[in-house]
Order: sequence, then structure tokens, then C-alpha cells
Amino acid sequence: DGVKVIDHPLVQHKLTIMRDRETSTASFRRLLREISTLLCYEVTRDLELTEVEIETPLQPMKAPILVGKKLVFASILRAGNGLLEGMLDLVPAARVAHIGIYRDHETLQPVEYYFKAPQDLSDRLTIVVDPMLATANSSIAAVTKLKERGARDIRFVCLLAAPEGIANFTAAHPDVPVFTAAIDDHLNEKGYIVPGLGDAGDRMYG
Ligand code: PRP
Repeated sequence: DGVKVIDHPLVQHKLTIMRDRETSTASFRRLLREISTLLCYEVTRDLELTEVEIETPLQPMKAPILVGKKLVFASILRAGNGLLEGMLDLVPAARVAHIGIYRDHETLQPVEYYFKAPQDLSDRLTIVVDPMLATANSSIAAVTKLKERGARDIRFVCLLAAPEGIANFTAAHPDVPVFTAAIDDHLNEKGYIVPGLGDAGDRMYG
């Protein structure tokens, strides 16, 4: 189906350290950046290649190179930026969209406060990043907004998902595949992923 769990041992190891309440802000941030490069590797696995003529120091050859327009990373602020950094380490030429959304703590409804995206989304792959897929209200709203601005080829990458969030997200956007490092047990009454890792934004930025 449209959900891929990236259970690479390095991802799982780093995620465990991130979940630990004793892990410092500095370590948490570094681990998220490291994991995001591994998630990026998986979400870009099927990018299309073409061939170019180059000359190695020994002889000419045809060699593969990425084809098509630069892809777009769309970061859901604030915590999305923790995933964005590692993705840009691997794909430094990518374009970036910033989407400001926070959850109202009472209603759990998404509140949008900022949106800035490259103009031409219609012919680019757009990879939306946010560490947490809880109710999915935030990510559903972000993807809806990107579609309104023309995006058609969209993937969503998170670190942790709740089963409820995956169900909501795939019902709202069945055309958008989800990549996650883990699917946790459930959401609690405050909308936190359990066992989870707490609030990713707070653990990164305070
Ligand atoms: C968190 C998280 C997601 C959202 C997930 O952001 O980073 O964006 O909540 O919850 P949902 O799936 O139920 O919508 P938060 O509202 O804490 O904002 P912040 O990243 O700016 O701290």
C-alpha cells in the first residue's frame, strides 16, 4: 500500500536514542539530521536517470545523471526543518517550500501562519517533511495547500507516525505515499504519539 516503514538498522538505532528522554537537545538535533539523510535515500530511490557523456581520466563514457526539474522539499514548520537539513545535505540543489502550521493545543486543528513555495510546483516532485504524523491534521492541510498551488507529484516523509494519523492521511490524500521510520502504538487524548518521543519541535528548539 502507500506506506513504507524504513526499518534500516541505523535508522532504528538513532530513533531509539531520540526517543530517550535523557537525550540532549544537541544530540536530538544531530540525530534527526542524520536520520533524515537515510530517509532521503529511500524516498529518492526511484528518481529518474538519464545518461550523459563524460570523460574520466582514462576514457570517455556514458554515465547516469538525474533528469527533470529540481525537486522541492516542503518543510512543515517548525519541526520539519530538522528533517529538511539532512535532505538538503544529500540534494543540495533542491528547491524549498516553507509551510507554517501549528496545532491548536485544545482542538488539535491546524493553524496556518505562513506559506512560501517556489512558483512552478506542477512539474516537480514535492517531498513534504515533518517528523510527526499524529492526527495528520497538519500534514493533510499542508498537502492540500501544495495541491492548490499546483503540486501533483507529492510524497510525505516523517519520523514517527500514529496508526490513526496514517489512516486519516491516506484517506485524505490517497495519491501521496508515506515514508516513516516507525509506526507507534496509538495517540493519547492530547494528540501525542505514544510511546513516541515527546514534542519534536520542543525537543529541537525548546
Ligand atoms: C507538531 C508536529 C507536526 C504536528 C503533528 O507540530 O511537528 O507538525 O504537530 O500533529 P498532527 O499530525 O496532529 O497535526 P506543532 O504543532 O507542535 O508545531 P511546532 O513544530 O512549531 O512545534
